[in-house]
Amino acid sequence: MKFLIINGPNLNLLGKREPEIYGNQGFELYLETLRQQFGQATIDYFQSNVEGEIINKLHEVGFAYTGIVLNAGAYTHTSIAIADAIKAITTPVVEVHLSNVFARESYRHESFLTPVCKGCISGFGLKSYQLALQSFLP
Ligand code: DQA
Repeated sequence: MKFLIINGPNLNLLGKREPEIYGNQGFELYLETLRQQFGQATIDYFQSNVEGEIINKLHEVGFAYTGIVLNAGAYTHTSIAIADAIKAITTPVVEVHLSNVFARESYRHESFLTPVCKGCISGFGLKSYQLALQSFLP
């Protein structure tokens, strides 16, 4: 089983960025916890602040991996191009958000990605990623 976690714009600053919303922990450390929890699986990680790089990565792994966990950050609410890329590949994608986007500004309530993803997990902090990975298991 091969999984890829993709974090989009500003998520490289996790732990430093608006900690009251996104928490105090950086992603790299949490990734180690995830790798221990899902010992039987390979979990690759990619972060980019650039929309095209996220699309290129989806194309690169999207016919070979078991599943993709995607936090597209603010591109969630703007990117038809990422939605098209998800539609173009065969690997299922689960959308995740640390915060509960529906409890926030109204412009965060719309996602171009949810309709083309397998599902969406929002509001559980870093645990959202664990829940998303679990959703791929039998
Ligand atoms: C986010 C929610 C988005 O609205 C926001 O732009 C982010 C992070 C989250 O994980 O809660 O960058 O995807």
